[in-house]
Amino acid sequence: MTERLREFGVDEIHNGIAKTGVVAIINGRGEGPTIGLRADMDALPIAEETGAEYASKNPGKMHACGHDGHTTMLLGAARYLAETRNFKGRVALLFQPAEEEGGGANVMVEEGVMDRFDIAEVYALHNAPGNDEGAFFTTPGPLMAAVDTFEIHIQGCGGHGAMPHETRDPVMAACGIAQAIQTIVSRNNYALDDLVVSVTQIHTGTVNNVIPDTAYINGTVRTFDPKVQKMVMGRMQQIVEGQAVSYGVEARLDYQVGYPATVNHPDKAAFAAEVAREVAGDGRVIADAGREMGAEDFSYMLQARPGAYLFLGQGDGAGLHHPKYDFNDEIAPVGASFFARIVEKALPVE
Ligand code: NI
Repeated sequence: MTERLREFGVDEIHNGIAKTGVVAIINGRGEGPTIGLRADMDALPIAEETGAEYASKNPGKMHACGHDGHTTMLLGAARYLAETRNFKGRVALLFQPAEEEGGGANVMVEEGVMDRFDIAEVYALHNAPGNDEGAFFTTPGPLMAAVDTFEIHIQGCGGHGAMPHETRDPVMAACGIAQAIQTIVSRNNYALDDLVVSVTQIHTGTVNNVIPDTAYINGTVRTFDPKVQKMVMGRMQQIVEGQAVSYGVEARLDYQVGYPATVNHPDKAAFAAEVAREVAGDGRVIADAGREMGAEDFSYMLQARPGAYLFLGQGDGAGLHHPKYDFNDEIAPVGASFFARIVEKALPVE
């Protein structure tokens, strides 16, 4: 990738940002602010089933979220912007690692990328399967949820499957806890406040005639309002403790606060939607699509600087994080044009 950036004639390439991230700078004509354009680069631990000739060569790993496509789109914009330089000020191309796990955006912000490169605004795109190919959507204000992870470790006392009375069964306790924490959404949360609590893993046991010693539960919590998040943390702790007592086991909750909500700055979202209309055409851009419960670590960059995050439809096909997911190359020029046009429109040459 840095080889390509060099070929395209960008002015500066900075490696080793957030370990494997890259920041490249393109100078425009004359003084002006710096606009940050971000593309994530990381893959997922999923075995690819697309059968494509360009499928992942790394077993058990694939670009199931299309971040390779995001990188390609930003490289396309880099090539055009470095060639034409039809803007003043500067562009900072932010190639970010570890979006899926590890919060690479946060690491970049904490390493001081925004100040170091004097970035004034930031923009990013994500492909969206199941939405019109080449059409954009975004929303002013809150766009994507905050994401937390919970792990519950249950310690019982196992034994023979035929003698449950001699055990303290962690399987039943896991079932009880998984059911009970659903009531945080249905009984503790105000009906109009956004909240998802999903149990996504339960691991326990090995064979039909043995009651195991332990069980493990894992899952995700999605919120927008910090008050709701705090309520969930409190209730989950109470439920885990209470259920443990009722089932005669020990249970420990490990609740990890993750990425904050992704909140677009309304005027930047409106500006980006205007740019998207120029690129995709009127009627191909929804500027107030509303929020969703997915999450994104670009939230950290939007906390550091004003900016906006948009989705770019890529037509029918397998969804994000699916083994048959395939980034639609047809939308690459659309995304590249959007990135380039953001810069030209925000920093016009007089
Ligand atoms: Ni993604």
